[in-house]
Amino acid sequence: MRLQNKNIILGITGGIAAYKSAYLCRYLIKEGANVKVVMTPNATEFITPVTMATLSRNTVLIDFFKHDDGAWNSHVDLGLWADLMLIAPATASSMGKMAHAIADNLLITTYLSCKAPVMLAPSMDLDMFKHPSTQKNIETLKAYGNIIIEPTSGELASGLDGKGRMEEPETIVENVIAFFNQKKKLCGKQFLITAGPTYEKIDPVRFIGNFSSGKMGFAIADRLAEQGAKVFLVTGPTPIKTNHTSVERIDVLSADQMYEQCISIFPEVDAAIMAAAVADYKPQHSTNVKIKRKEAGDLQISLVPNKDIAASLGAVKRPSQILVGFALETNDELDNAQKKLLSKNLDWIVLNSLNDEGAGFGVDTNKITIVDNNNNIQYFELKTKQEVASDIVEKLIRTLK
Ligand code: CTP
Repeated sequence: MRLQNKNIILGITGGIAAYKSAYLCRYLIKEGANVKVVMTPNATEFITPVTMATLSRNTVLIDFFKHDDGAWNSHVDLGLWADLMLIAPATASSMGKMAHAIADNLLITTYLSCKAPVMLAPSMDLDMFKHPSTQKNIETLKAYGNIIIEPTSGELASGLDGKGRMEEPETIVENVIAFFNQKKKLCGKQFLITAGPTYEKIDPVRFIGNFSSGKMGFAIADRLAEQGAKVFLVTGPTPIKTNHTSVERIDVLSADQMYEQCISIFPEVDAAIMAAAVADYKPQHSTNVKIKRKEAGDLQISLVPNKDIAASLGAVKRPSQILVGFALETNDELDNAQKKLLSKNLDWIVLNSLNDEGAGFGVDTNKITIVDNNNNIQYFELKTKQEVASDIVEKLIRTLK
């Protein structure tokens, strides 16, 4: 029995594939799972609650209220009980409600209260599945960390042939088992990441900034979260969105604000990765009134150094903590990176050179070299920033062991 003692909420929404939920429930029970079924009112048109109650060996929940004794069905308790919520079939309508928090039935409120991971097996007609509205909702649900079990292609209830058929119950159960078997390697670990540029204010409408997009730092944050870590992501201005619920995003503007956040978070974490492009200097004086153009002469702005965040963390680092810096260089790359590694008391530094095509700010790829404080040098190929993030996270996992 491969799902012994796992608590699974089986959510059933109103689609013809709901008849397969009976088999699904049986297989889950046969594998040792405890199953509680929540149905939408429409689902009861396709399969009876009596069938599902018998197979799951539990009362089926449909309504918010128990009309016989005036009590209510607590979706909150149910959400806390579960190790997994599995919604099969998931109709276009229910996925739309989940993506937009339209909590008009017990299944959606349970989904919104659920602390456990959620898996969905969509089921619908091929054109409904292909529609950009449906696809956008699926993307949104994925971005919130939900796991989608892709529908298959074949003959549909409408008589048409195409993609939209709910995956077979046996395969869904295999997906559930595989999900519980995958080992997250960073559960219980905490990380601090800095990302993006900083903006140093000149006057109310102007600042000194840089071209950093934040892509690298955000990709690392997501990879760490996928491995079960809690991530504090302190980021300068960027339109990038955070995907994972265990990434706590803290938005800042200036290097000073980033410094304050990092100093207060650092004692709590196992490792910090400094991927932000922090401005080295800020205007000595910023004004609250707009600076006007003068008839003649140059405008001088005097700049003073910002605090070095990485070096400040390096100075207070505990032996068990890992501090990783980035270096973007244009010349004498290795030499400069090694100097930064030493001067900031880093454990390793991720070097990228602007001389490498496809590396640096704004682009989706990066080519890195990692130098550590034992002077080991590791060269990597040109890869997507997602893949680079995975390499960095793998190395962190090995180092933290
Ligand atoms: N860094 C930081 N705070 C600063 C400047 C840099 O935390 N005020 C961090 C960056 O996030 C990066 C590393 O230090 O991880 C190296 O940044 P970089 O700007 O390349 O180094 P600098 O020391 O500023 O050197 P350079 O003269 O090359 O700009």
